[in-house]
This record gives sequence, C-alpha cells and structure tokens, in this order.
Amino acid sequence: MPENAARIRHGSSIGQPLTRRDGLLKVTGGATYAADNHPEGLLHAVTAVSTIARGRVTHLDVAAARAHPGVVDVMTPENAPKLAMHPDKKDTPFTFRLDLLQDSAVRYANQPIAVVIADTLEAATEGVALLAPRYNVEAARVGLDAEKPIVPPSVGVGEPPDASKGDVEAGLGEAETRIATTYETASQYHNAMEPHAIVAEWKDGGLSIDMPTQGLSIAQGRLAGLFGIDPKKIHIRSPFLGGGFGSKGTPAGPQVLGVMAAKLVDRPVKLVLRREQMFGPVGHRAQTRQSFRLGTKGDGTLTALEHCTLTASSTFDDFFEPSGGVSHTLYASPNISATHRAVRLDIGTPMFMRAPGEASGSAALESAIDEMAEACGMDPLEFRLKNYAEKEPLSGKPFSSKALRECYRQGAEAFGWSARKPEPRSMRDQDGLLVGWGVGTATFPALMMQAQASAELRADGSASMLIGAHDMGQGAWTALAQIAADSLGLDLDAVEFRMGSSDLPNAGIAGGSAHTATAGDAIHKAGSAIIAQLSELATQDERSPLFGAGNAGTIARDGWLLRRDDERRGESFSDILKRAGRERIEGQGNAGSDKAAREAYAMHAHGAVFAEAKVDPDLGQVRVTRLVGAFAAGRIINPRLVRSQYYGGMIWGLSFALHEHTVMDKRSGRPMNASLAEYHVPVNADVPSVEAILVEEHDPHVNALGIKGVGEISITGTAGAIANAVFHATGIRVRELPITLDRLM
Ligand code: MOS
Repeated sequence: MPENAARIRHGSSIGQPLTRRDGLLKVTGGATYAADNHPEGLLHAVTAVSTIARGRVTHLDVAAARAHPGVVDVMTPENAPKLAMHPDKKDTPFTFRLDLLQDSAVRYANQPIAVVIADTLEAATEGVALLAPRYNVEAARVGLDAEKPIVPPSVGVGEPPDASKGDVEAGLGEAETRIATTYETASQYHNAMEPHAIVAEWKDGGLSIDMPTQGLSIAQGRLAGLFGIDPKKIHIRSPFLGGGFGSKGTPAGPQVLGVMAAKLVDRPVKLVLRREQMFGPVGHRAQTRQSFRLGTKGDGTLTALEHCTLTASSTFDDFFEPSGGVSHTLYASPNISATHRAVRLDIGTPMFMRAPGEASGSAALESAIDEMAEACGMDPLEFRLKNYAEKEPLSGKPFSSKALRECYRQGAEAFGWSARKPEPRSMRDQDGLLVGWGVGTATFPALMMQAQASAELRADGSASMLIGAHDMGQGAWTALAQIAADSLGLDLDAVEFRMGSSDLPNAGIAGGSAHTATAGDAIHKAGSAIIAQLSELATQDERSPLFGAGNAGTIARDGWLLRRDDERRGESFSDILKRAGRERIEGQGNAGSDKAAREAYAMHAHGAVFAEAKVDPDLGQVRVTRLVGAFAAGRIINPRLVRSQYYGGMIWGLSFALHEHTVMDKRSGRPMNASLAEYHVPVNADVPSVEAILVEEHDPHVNALGIKGVGEISITGTAGAIANAVFHATGIRVRELPITLDRLM
C-alpha cells in the first residue's frame, strides 16, 4: 500500500453484538433451504439403502418398483449414468470416495444401493419398499477389536500419524509419580437439523443446483470432475444451511446421486435424506481408544506425556481422526509422544466433525490430566497452571498470542472454583445429591485458508461486497457483512452484501473454524483496496480538502474520507468519485496471512471450561447443573454470535460426555439407534445454565484483523470438564464416554 493509504478505523460495525441479519427470514420461514426449491417439472428421488454392512446386492425387484403408479425410473448400477471419473479416485485431500452405484458391492450399512425417481415423494418411497433387495452377506467387521491395527498413511488433513520429542521412556523413568490410563470415545454421527439434500437440474449442458454446502467451489470442482463438465457451468446456490458441522464440506454421495438421477430422467430432481440415512454415507466422528502414560516430578511437573490413539476408518477411504494433536500443544513436557493407529471396518468413512481431533482428543487428554493431578494430590487447575505451556511443547514455537492463563483465571472466578473441596464425594447439595466440579482446557488451531472477495463502490455512494461464503448457522451473513461495512468505511445497511452462491468469488470452505478469519480477510482486503484508491484520488487532488494528507493518511468512516490528523476535514466518497469523473471503483481481496509469521509462531485459540455435575447416589443419574467457559480467540467480530457459538460447542461437549453414541450391532454391522429418538443429544431440559466469557486477546500475527475463529474451540475441553466433575462427585472414573448411568452403578 502507498504511504498515504487509508487506515480503516475498526469498531464501528466490528465488535457490535448485532442480531442475525437473516434471523427474521429464518423465524418467519422466509429463508429458502435447498429442499424448499421446486423448479418446474420437479421429480422426487428416494434412495434405497443397504441393510447389510458387507457383501453384494444380488437382486432388486426393479420391475415391481417401476410398475408402481407415479414411479418414473429406478436407478441401479445397471442403468446409472456413466461418470467421467470413478468416484473411488482421489484428486485432492478433500475428495472423499463415494458410493455412486458403480457396482453391486456393499461396503457399509445404509449405503445407497438404488434410487427411485417418481412424481411424488410417496410414490418414490413406496417404489423403494418394492425393491426388496437380496444380498450375498459377508460377516461385518465393526468395533475397534474387529481387525488388526495399521499405521494410517496420515491423520486429519495430511498430518503424519506419529509425532514426538525427547524420550518418553526416559521421562517416565525419572518420574516420581506415573499413571497409565485408557479412554474410549464413541462414534458420533452428523445430525444437522437439515439433512443432506439437493435439487438438481441439467440445463444447457450445465447444472443448476440448490444444496447445502460448506464449500461451494469444492462442490463445483468435485461435480465437474465426476460429470466431466466445466466447473463454470455448474451453478450452486447455498444461501442457508441448517447446520453442517463438517459433513457438508464436500458433496456427499447421496447428493451426487441426485445429480445422476436428474441426468437419467432429464428432469429436475429433489433428493433429501431421511434421518436414518444420515447414519452411513455422510461421514461421522470416528470412535477412538486413547491410551496415556504420564509421569511427574514431586512438584507435579510433567516429565513425560504419551498419547496413543486407536481409531477406525472405512475399508475403502482414508480419514483418520487426529486425536493426538492436543498433546502436541496443550501441556509443557520435555518428552512427548503422540501416535495414531487404526482399524479398517465395514463402516461409512468417518469425516471432519466439529473440532475433528481436538474434541475426542481433549475429552480423553483432559480426563487423563485430571487423573494425573489426582495422583499428585494437586488441585486440577493448579496442576494445569504448573504445566502451562509458554511455548508450543512439540514444536518449541512461541504462541502468536495465548491468553489461556487469563481464561483459567476469569473462568475459575466466575465459577467459584476456590470453594472446591479436593476430596471426591465430599460435596453434596441440600437434596443429598453428590456434587462434583471439574475443569478442562480448550484448544483449537487458528487456521487460514483461501478466499477471494470483490467489492465495488459507486458514484452515488452505494457499495457492494461479493463473496461465495457460507452460513451454516454460525452467523456469516452478519459477521462478514460487519467486516465488509468497516472495510469500506460504510454503515452496515449501506453495503449490499452477497454470499452463498458459486457464481460469486471463491471463498474456499467454511471449516476449521477459519471462515470468518479467511473470508473476512478477503473482504477486508477488497474493501481496503477501494479505500486506498479513493484516498489516492483525493490526496493527490488540490481541490480536495484531503490534498496532501500525506503520511498521516486518511480514515474512512460513514461514507466519508477524513484526514487522520484532523478528522474535521474530509470529503464524501461520492464527491471524490464525481470530481474524478469515476462511475465506480472496484477492489479485489485475496485472503492470506504473513507466511513468515505462520512459520515462526504456533497459532491457537484457547479456553477453560468449568463444569458442575450432580449425581444421584442411588440411581447414578447425572445432571450437569452449571457450565462456565472462558475463551480467548483473538478479535471478536460479533460478541453475540460468538457467545452463541460458545454455547453450542459447550452443549455439544455435554452431549459428548453424557449422551451421544452410535450403538453398532456387531452381528449385522448396522447402527441400532439411527434416529433422534434413540441417538440422544441434549434437549433443553438437559442443558443447565451455560455461561460464556469472552476473554480479550490481541493477536498481531494470525491475520490482518487478528481473528482466530470460534466455531470449534468450545466443544473441546468441555467433555473432559464434565467427566472430571462426575469423578469428583462420585469418586468413580468412567473411562468410556458417554458416561451413562449404568457405568456409575
Ligand atoms: Mo468443521 S468439522 O471444519 O465444519
């Protein structure tokens, strides 16, 4: 930027606790979700899914389904449209192998095996029932002991499976206190309120699509590859998602089947998954078994931390839950080892699920740390402070910022931690219930991905900001518009803000808690580019009151450019443009951060979660009665929305600790609780008083705006805090999550 470039004054929109700008649309039914679209001539598609987990489909009664009134066609491996690229081929790290009716093999339960297309949803559903599939069944392998472990090629997104520093055996050798402990976490299936859906229509050799996606351009690229067409001919609208949580990062198999069905019948087709069909083809959080060995000196200082994860993936794809990552970063120890092993099972491929790795990893690590504190006879918070990492333990890098100490302090104070009695089973309430208090540490990386934005300022003073960003419910429509307004020095309402379509500039993926940071950075840069040009026009023109503002520069605010050294002197945007004879100024923004800083620093958000659990001593029933989380995540764009993210994450942590698990039938390999009646998530009655504290943190390195991201941090730490509270209440250490009452009896 030139020396006299405008410096945008932040804080007019950024930082305001605005309500969702799309909130009214949502509560009045005006927000259009994918399945709300009904193009002319629409047909309905329903998938038939496998009731076995391994084997082959030997027979489908296609004739019976076809004969049913209203059924238009039945898509099976026999007649499924040919694909330009085999769906088992991987071309990017984000390409997941999909089951698209290319053969009769069954690789997991609930795998799509046919699609019935009909005039009505009812006819298609009935057609599916008439298919009456027959199978060649092979014994299904489910559960972590069903197969021999392998070393996964990588974990998460291309991370090496093993990482270490120092010598864990030596560290354990010199320890005065040692523990070895093993935790298990259950598999969890993505259950966004809005199931995966698509409305697809082939038009002029291209595709017109409505579908919820966290990655418009990824979806465009994947569909272009599968169908052999130019990505520019694929138009995807995704203005709203009813939740994604990672499962909508890349198109799921059934969504692609909707496109294939539309091709087969040459009509627009709608395909919406039923709830139970979510338990298989759209990803899930893999189950884990995590074993730890820890050692400490007499004063409670860690000498060794070993964290071995065993997880599960499918037989045909490579997603491995990176649970060990938390041990790279959370606690100072001279000797650390974090390894991953995996078994391949007859299950759908696991995938990113909110805080992939950190959620399951911290649930186990935070419990193990609690056990170690107990073994040392130390208060669990004091133990964590004793082993506070001033530098990232594994890499040795300084943190770009880390206000975790402050999170512990503010969280403990708000919770009243100092009144905790150290002995387990020593606290009771007035009704005789056992009371326990636990703490857990939260951590999640502050990532930056890629995104572009483009902006325009017009001579009438109006402006627009365009970006193909995504709102899964987190509030992107609002938070990103706030950044847009400030970047342009305009009021929120003065900027036409557009997002949620693949025809807009590529905003990468809404994932990894990086969307506000990344899309926000692109927006900030696009707006800044305009203000820089505007500033140049004004400060170099003798007729402008801004002439010669020079090094002091200008400030953009409320549609005016002002002299930084004298804010009473300025000129409106539209006056500057008119005098210069310009109709408009355009600006482009490309997200990015300082590469050298990314190399030099470890970048993470942090937090501390405090939980109170009450346990009925006779029945073992657990109630979480209080949750207090204090989180530091850099600059906060909208505290109301951020608080809401923190609540959501903490409630999922509660779900993780007490409710959520998929029960697999070992004989059939089928999930036994594939419905929201039996797959338990917390309802309002389960959710206690939840308090989120936004701890101030300034980070000069993560990106220009100092945003770390808040989407995933608060699910981490919470499950451990609750499990530790249950231990403190009962004296019983349940090492298999979720903690159900049978495990306390
Ligand atoms: Mo997230 S699991 O990156 O949507």
